[in-house]
Amino acid sequence: MASSSLRYQDKVVLITGGSKGLGEAAVREFVKAGSKVAFCARGVEVGKALEVELNKVGPGECFFIQCDVFKEDDIKRTVEQTVEKYKRLDCLINNAGWHPPEMKIDDVTAEHFKWLNDLNVINPFIFSKHALPHLRKTKGNIINISSLVAKIGQTHAVPYVTTKGAIDAMTRAMAVDEAQYEVRVNTISPGNFWTPLWDEFSQASADTKAFIQRGAEAQLIGRFGKPEESGKMCLFIAAEATFCTGHDFVMSGGSDLDYGCKTRVKGRTSIFE
Ligand SMILES: NC(=O)c1ccc[n+]([C@@H]2O[C@H](COP(=O)([O-])OP(=O)(O)OC[C@H]3O[C@@H](n4cnc5c(N)ncnc54)[C@H](O)[C@@H]3O)[C@@H](O)[C@H]2O)c1
Repeated sequence: MASSSLRYQDKVVLITGGSKGLGEAAVREFVKAGSKVAFCARGVEVGKALEVELNKVGPGECFFIQCDVFKEDDIKRTVEQTVEKYKRLDCLINNAGWHPPEMKIDDVTAEHFKWLNDLNVINPFIFSKHALPHLRKTKGNIINISSLVAKIGQTHAVPYVTTKGAIDAMTRAMAVDEAQYEVRVNTISPGNFWTPLWDEFSQASADTKAFIQRGAEAQLIGRFGKPEESGKMCLFIAAEATFCTGHDFVMSGGSDLDYGCKTRVKGRTSIFE
């Protein structure tokens, strides 16, 4: 019998965008839990380095696959390679995605919106479509990384908020269809988590220190979420939340509670000003 720390031992997990940020943290948590983890990203060097590092430590193992999630052939091959190597699939984590810098509605082009929809919505759908035949055999589960802002909105982020709202709706629709196979489909909705994405935004801002401080103070808990906290939530959903499907696990640090100063100062262009 598995010891208590090996909560998902020998189960096979596929994680998209697993080379950094929340995806990398999930890879680390599942390897610690004894799982066999396939993870994909575009950059080979970073992915291979993580594979080598974690395989030295175990107790689970991992395997990097290069994949551009804009390409359906890449997605299909990624699922096939995972099942070919590990012979089954128990959990798919659709994490790869992007939050563009703030953009006013007047500056949003149809091309940008379609491109972001391809990345944040079509990619998880295609991954799910190709993974489901395998997940049905194992009564597995899908975890889609949505966002808190799909629920509360966000300044100058209409395309991003819309794509994550679509993920929430797709999750519920898929949970309904897949229940007959005992496949669960859930979302995690992170608030502000400190990842390379946030680091890039802060470096690009006029006042990096103030930007980071505002980001941290948005939470009642007074800090950013840590990527490992999101990874642990993924592990909990896969291993223990066996009566939850179509459920949204919000990880907001309390940022969605209580009143706050919501009125915009005239002429202000960003919530971080
Ligand atoms: N960090 C946060 O505060 C936060 C909050 C809410 C939601 N999210 C969501 O969590 C997920 C991960 O975000 P993060 O902060 O770790 O971002 P990140 O930029 O640090 O990592 C994103 C990951 O997605 C991968 N990726 C992006 N485009 C890809 C492509 N075309 N092909 C393959 N892989 C690709 C990257 O390689 C990387 O591994 C995203 O879906 C994001 O929208 C993040």
